[in-house]
This record gives sequence, structure tokens and C-alpha cells, in this order.
Amino acid sequence: MAEILPESEALQRAVELLGAGAVVAIPTETVYGLSADATNGEAVARIYEAKGRPRFNPLIAHVADMEMAGKIAVFNPLARKLADAFWPGPLTMVLPQREGSGIHPLVTAGLDTIALRCPKGFATRAIAALGRPLAAPSANSSGRISATTAAAVEADLGTRIPLIVDGGATAVGLESTILKVEDGRLTLLRPGGVAAGDIERVAGLSLARGAKGIQAPGMLVSHYAPQASLRLNVDEVRGGEALLAFGPRRATGVDKAVVVRNLSESGDLREAAANLFSHLLALDGAGAAIIAVEPVPLAGLGEAINDRLARAAAPRDA
Ligand code: TXA
Ligand code: MG
Repeated sequence: MAEILPESEALQRAVELLGAGAVVAIPTETVYGLSADATNGEAVARIYEAKGRPRFNPLIAHVADMEMAGKIAVFNPLARKLADAFWPGPLTMVLPQREGSGIHPLVTAGLDTIALRCPKGFATRAIAALGRPLAAPSANSSGRISATTAAAVEADLGTRIPLIVDGGATAVGLESTILKVEDGRLTLLRPGGVAAGDIERVAGLSLARGAKGIQAPGMLVSHYAPQASLRLNVDEVRGGEALLAFGPRRATGVDKAVVVRNLSESGDLREAAANLFSHLLALDGAGAAIIAVEPVPLAGLGEAINDRLARAAAPRDA
């Protein structure tokens, strides 16, 4: 069972665990977050394991201050103005990611944008003490509502994580507002703790909203799609293909592959999840028309890996 510590006593233990790649439930002012070091792929894979999420939605990276934020994303004057007005607080901004941001590609699910938020309270202190951003979705298992107390986190995830930091009931009680910020254009991706009207007043702009109204979070994102087509579950590689391998046994014809990346030589699904987006990007960048993909088992994180591969393989509209 998870250890539960009041936030006044938890900082050192939380930072120790986070630094070692563990997942820790921490209070933020919106809802409890299931947090891990955003620069460590296996730590981020553990978030998905703990949530039992059947797919890789991009996660919010939480920062301690503008200095950390500015190293991760490009802030135009509008984004800076909104950060000045609403940070720390329940506003998440989707911004262009900087090259060399250090954020692991599993956090963004391979996208070139990043969702950033500077939270209030214990979360901010933990991030500052760790010196690295924390990826954190809401601390609930897949399909359940977001936890706003440590007891709710314990009931749901207590057997899957080592530490829950108890900061009492969260002040806001619902998730952050998610806003995509582009030059002269703001799009509301998810309503939340900051009212749309307050953002409009500060920005001097009205918010664009999806034509179909509010969609479920995670469905809003245009996912990274490789240039190459994917051929799944291959047991035989064809000439000129790139190969995304898994495990110790190779498909036949591997010598015909122009380039090979193995998600995990030992067949470890957590390692495979951590490597998924960087390997897809690398193989796509090698210029082959087709990426052949060896079978990945469906157990545990394999479900999310297979979901992502199936999406990447699906025929696209022109
Ligand atoms: O209040 C909150 O936002 C809480 C606390 C823990 O900070 N976090 C939270 O995270 O609600 P989560 O993972 O449950 O929701 C994050 C949402 C997802 O629906 C995801 O689709 C969206 O953020 N998102 C993340 N990165 C994105 C990106 N680059 N572009 C568009 N949407 C993104
Ligand atoms: Mg959530």
C-alpha cells in the first residue's frame, strides 16, 4: 500500500522517489496529480501503468516558474501575458516545444507542442526541489473521475504507487483550463478552473472553440502521424522497409531492412513504451516509405502501445 504523508512532512521523500523514477500522487490546487519526472521515459511509462490507460494521451508538464517554462516552450507575447496573469494557477497553455527541452517524447505523445502549467502549493515546491518538470495527469485510474482528496487517490490507486502526499481537499476541485496559444489566436481545448471570460479580458481576444463544441479531453489532439506507412505484426521484412522491432527474436528478412530500432531488446513493455515515440520519429526520419512493425504483446502497457501503432497505421485522409 502507498505511504500517505501530510504535505508538511512529505517534500524530501517525494523528491527522493521522483528523482529515482517513481510515480507519486501529489496535491495541486485543481485535482490530485499522478506525477513523475517528465524527462525520464520509464518514469512516465509508469504513470500509464498506474492509471491503466489503454492509450497514450499527451500529458501536462508542470513547472515551478517562468524560468523553467521558458526552457521548455516558446512563449510569444500573448502567452507571456497570460502566464503573468494566471500563473501559478489552473491554466494550462499548449505552446510550441523548444528543441532540447529535455521533455521525454512519451509526455507529448510525439507532438511538437507541449501543454505547460505552473501549479500552486506543494506541487510547485516539489518541482523546484527536484529541479525538473513533472508530468502529471489527474490521479485516477482510467475511466474514473479525478481525485480531489488523498483518500480518493488511496481508494483508487493505493496499491499501485509508493507515496500519496496529503494536502487536504483541493481548492479548485476541477481540472485546469486548457488553452492552445498561437500568434493572435487562442483556442479553448478544455474548460476548467480559469473562466473563459477572464482569459478573454486579459488577452483582449475572444476564444475560438472547436466547431463540434466541447469534446472529450484527449480526443482534441491531432496526434503525431508518421510520414511513412506502417505495416503491423510483421513476421517477414520486405526490401527497403524500416523495421520497428520488439524483443529478442527477429522477423525473417531483417537484413533487408534499411534501418532497425528495437523498442526493447529484452521484451520489457515499460522500456518499449518509453522508446515508442522516439523510435517512430527516428525511423520516419530515415526516409523509408514503410515502417514494418514486429508484434507487441497486448498485456499491460502493450495495449496502449498497440493502440498507438494502430492509429499510426490507419489510412489517412489526403
Ligand atoms: O488540473 C489539471 O490539469 C490536472 C492537474 C494534475 O494538473 N491534470 C490533468 O491532466 O487534468 P490530464 O492528463 O487528465 O489532462 C490533460 C489533457 C489531456 O486531455 C490531453 O489531451 C491534453 O491535456 N493535452 C496535453 N498535451 C497536449 C497538447 N500538446 N496539445 C493538446 N492537448 C494536450
Ligand atoms: Mg484526467
